[in-house]
Amino acid sequence: MSTIQEEEILRALSTVQEPDLKKDLVTLGMIEDIAVDAARNVSFTVVLTTPACPMKAQIKEACVNAVRANVPDAASVEVNMTSKVTSSCSHHGGNHHGGAHHHAEGHTCSHNQPLKEVKNIIAVASGKGGVGKSTFAVNLAVSLAQTGAKVGLIDADLYGPSIPTMFGLLDTKPELSGKNLVPLEKYGVKLMSIGFLVDPETALVWRGPMASSAIRQFINEVEWKDLDYLIFDLPPGTGDIQLTLAQTVPLGGAIIVTTPQDVALADVSKAVSMFRKLDVPLLGLVENMSYYELPDGTKDYIFGHHGGEIFARTHSLAFLGSIPIDRSVREGGDSGVPCVIAHPDSSSSQAVKRASMEVARRVSITNAELGGE
Ligand SMILES: Nc1ncnc2c1ncn2[C@@H]1O[C@H](COP(=O)(O)OP(=O)(O)OP(=O)(O)O)[C@@H](O)[C@H]1O
Ligand SMILES: [Mg+2]
Repeated sequence: MSTIQEEEILRALSTVQEPDLKKDLVTLGMIEDIAVDAARNVSFTVVLTTPACPMKAQIKEACVNAVRANVPDAASVEVNMTSKVTSSCSHHGGNHHGGAHHHAEGHTCSHNQPLKEVKNIIAVASGKGGVGKSTFAVNLAVSLAQTGAKVGLIDADLYGPSIPTMFGLLDTKPELSGKNLVPLEKYGVKLMSIGFLVDPETALVWRGPMASSAIRQFINEVEWKDLDYLIFDLPPGTGDIQLTLAQTVPLGGAIIVTTPQDVALADVSKAVSMFRKLDVPLLGLVENMSYYELPDGTKDYIFGHHGGEIFARTHSLAFLGSIPIDRSVREGGDSGVPCVIAHPDSSSSQAVKRASMEVARRVSITNAELGGE
């Protein structure tokens, strides 16, 4: 019997589709480290584009089956699964999505832009206030960090910073490294908030230009270093801060948070159209405080069912998930221990984690569609 050639293995693996990205693993550049030993044992690595990919097991099995079926001489097949988060900007090394190196219209990135070591910059936004943006942004950041991703979180709500409270860091000040600030770090997430720098009363009297320059400082004068995801927790609505952000950094995507009561309001559509006008890809919609879970597990949709899903569909947005209204979610925010840390197995934490993994998945799909790496 002749030895097994690498090409045979690649040909076999080119029959395996990545279910989300709708191309085969070889075209997507996801296969690395192919090896065949003297006893014809085959091994290779599959580099997925999201940590904790829900389809990991399925993809692994498909790879084993494809090699068994197409390379009958293989004595055994060993598949190592790893991940490397893709970037919304093409200057990052990493996976090659079908050799597509162009950018979608309006989505420009350059080498000397700010935050060039950050792979994906994501904004969490809403039409109106108090819908749970900060709560979701915090739990999203922590959930992504728990999967092994490098994550940062910027509190862009300069007039009502909530990150210091939600992380239990009310009396902590960031240190300086040269001229730059070193972000604080908790639960595996790098953090920056105006609340770490000035007392809240001071921030309240700021006017537009000062707020915009504070945002620029958070971007340019903080040592974020390399991150897979940098999440911006935005203030509600469609004001100066949203505009400054979209004009200063290459936003890889925005998430819209609503409650069932406010999906019908014009504010949500306004937020959606603002990001569309600014050419920021919309990752999808999260419906927060969707239902109340009774002790027997029944879901009571107090404010009606499917409002968020219908809104998402009519606005061509992905629906990222529903999060129940739950005392422990609020208590997590107040106590400085996010619910996904304090009660990781509760059904509300599970809902938050599912929505977070859906965000990671949409980021990876959006990057593939827009031709990032
Ligand atoms: N799923 C939930 N269940 C229970 N309470 C929640 C839930 N989500 C958020 N809350 C609570 O609702 C309040 C508002 O949430 P949060 O501060 O996250 O909203 P926001 O959209 O960031 O508000 P703002 O527009 O003021 O920034 C907080 O007290 C928070 O703890
Ligand atoms: Mg907030």
